[in-house]
This record gives sequence, structure tokens and C-alpha cells, in this order.
Amino acid sequence: MTRNDRRAAPPSPRQLHFCPRVLCGAGVLAELPGVLEPTNKYLLVTDEGISTAGLAKLVCDLIAARGIRHEVFDRVCVDPDVAIVEEAVAFAHETACTAVIGLGGGSSLDAAKAVATRLAWPNSLAEYGRGMEVPVPIAPLVAIPTTAGTGSEATRVAVITDREQNEKMAIRGDALLPQLAVLDPDLLTTLPPRVAAECGADALTHAIEACVSKQASAWTDMLALAAIRSIGEYLPRLVSDPADAEAAEEMLLAANFAGQAFTHAGLGLVHSLGEPLGAFHHTSHGLSCALFLPVVMEYNLAAASPGYSRIAAALGENLEGMTIEGAATASVASVRRLFASVGLPASYREANIDFVLRSDMVDQVFPQYSTSCNPRHPKREDVVRLFESLDSNPA
Ligand SMILES: [Fe+2]
Repeated sequence: MTRNDRRAAPPSPRQLHFCPRVLCGAGVLAELPGVLEPTNKYLLVTDEGISTAGLAKLVCDLIAARGIRHEVFDRVCVDPDVAIVEEAVAFAHETACTAVIGLGGGSSLDAAKAVATRLAWPNSLAEYGRGMEVPVPIAPLVAIPTTAGTGSEATRVAVITDREQNEKMAIRGDALLPQLAVLDPDLLTTLPPRVAAECGADALTHAIEACVSKQASAWTDMLALAAIRSIGEYLPRLVSDPADAEAAEEMLLAANFAGQAFTHAGLGLVHSLGEPLGAFHHTSHGLSCALFLPVVMEYNLAAASPGYSRIAAALGENLEGMTIEGAATASVASVRRLFASVGLPASYREANIDFVLRSDMVDQVFPQYSTSCNPRHPKREDVVRLFESLDSNPA
């Protein structure tokens, strides 16, 4: 690039919110029993796939060997809703569980956060979903991700679906930061390639949206750009071989950094568009990120060229002699190439989505916090155009 691409003065963050303890590395799960509180009885919150893959038993056998009392709730579904959380809470009460371990992808970790919230406080999830901050403390909470995507173990938010309103509620508060996160790449070895790719698209979207957010800071830039560098390098390796321990560990860390970045900086339009697409067309969250990220980047380019030029550099683009605007444009092509290289679709047709645009899908974009963080504030016709652009996008 031909001139300095930094903002004049990146602001400092006003507050930092952390998960206080992270165990990271191959085999680190073995250390879990030694750091659990033996007077607690733990409810392992997970899904059937994790149980079938033997990962729930792996955790249970480890903690049982050290005399840690526990129960298993493995009925978490994709996009967990209020009913499944309340079912888990009732089971926890019946079995006298006092603490929670979330094991799985973002759905299980978010459900675990919601269960720990409801074990501690009487308010309904709908009250928190309407903006009431979750008070400190909730029940003791451990997060063990088995995908490299949501970074939920690093965030102060959980997403729970309200089936009656056909929308997702974000519940928020520092209380939702787990007391302990375990990032063990050995837990990713059975990850199907498509799941690894979609989760990687989610993590990359978190990092890119945090990097160009109106709430970005020097702190979040550092985390987001580190995540983008790692995802560009290691996502193709993880998708081609989930047993690649180095790639899995780097991707787990990248997802965690991206989670820390967006929990401080917020997200953007990719997430605002993805929620109604998921609600009305049952599209997975990672797939909606893969579809919308390139088109939203194109839409935002003029409003955040310096940020996108730094993203291009982090993705390894050769920017020699380019203007900031040229480098920013290169970031979009770079993301498209990365997604194509891991088999992610670039249009509704490729994603087998029979797309119909409803006006309430457009309505749902505007009240979201993510929309307020996006570097460019969209008009209604912009949102319509963004939804419809994937009808014909050949890239
Ligand atoms: Fe996301």
C-alpha cells in the first residue's frame, strides 16, 4: 500500500471482559477434573451427535474417575430454543445439579450458558432477550468447544431461539463468560469437513465484522487481525484433515480471539442478515455467514477501506503498490477464494436454498445491535438488494 492504512487514533476499549481461565493444547482435557470444584454436581449440556461420537462419555469418564458427580443432558438441538433450555433446567433441578459444563458447538455452549443463567435467577429468558442484563453470578460454568467457530467460550452473549416470534434472542452479560474454557484440538478430530468449513466462515465473519465495526478499538483490532491471519492459513488444512492437530489448535485459538474481538466490538450486517435467513429458510448460521460475508464486504468497502485493507494484508494478499481502496477490494476476492477452496457455496442456488424474500425478513435486520455496529448504515432498499444479490451471484 502506498500510504499509512491505520486509523488516525484507534480508541482504547472502555472495559475488557474475559473468561478468566483457558486451558489450551492437545490433550489438555485431561486436566479438567483437577480444576473442577468437587463440591459441585455438574450437568453436562451437549447434543446427541457429541454423545454418539463418544465425546460426552470421554468427559464423564474423566471426571467420574476423580469422584466429580455429574449428569448428562444431550438433547440440545441446532439453534436451541427456550423450551429445550427449560427442559434442561428442570432436569438439573430434579438431579440436584449445581453447575454446568457445555460441550459441543455454539448451540450446546449457548444452551449451557442459558441453563446456568436459569439455575441462578428466576427471570425468564424472554426478559433477558428483551434487554435485561444477566446478573452476576450465574451457576458455575465450564465451556468445552468441539468446533472452531462461534468462540462462545470467550463471549458475554448467548443466542436462544424464540419459536413463537420466529426470531433469535441474544441474552447478554459479563455473567455469561465461563469461568473456565478448555480448547483441546483432540476434540475436533471427527469434525465433518462441511461443518469445519461453515464454523470457520462464522469465525472469520466475527473477526472481519469486529475489525470494521463502529465499536472497534486497538484491542479488538489486534485480536481480530490475529484471528484472520490464522483462519486464512489453517482453515483449508483443518477442512481437508480434521486430525491435523496444529491446524485444529490454531483454528480453536482463532475462533477464541475472534469471539473476544466481537464481544467487545460487536458484529455487523452479515449477522443481521443471517438471523432472518436462518429463521425463515432454516439455514445454518455458518452457511449464512459464508453467503453474506463477501457481498456485505463489497457493500461496506467505501465506508471502511482502511480496515478492509488491513484484512487483505492479514489474509496474505500481496498489496505492493496498491492504494488503500485497491487493497480493500482485494480483501473481498481473498475471502471468496478462501471460501471456494473449502467448498462453501456463493449463492442460494449452490446452497440449495429456495429463496423467497419476505418483508418481515427485512424488518428483522434493523433493530439488531449488529446493524448499529456496521460501518455503513443500510437503507431498506440496501437490505433488499443484499438479500437478492445472492440469487444470481456466480462467484
Ligand atoms: Fe456468528
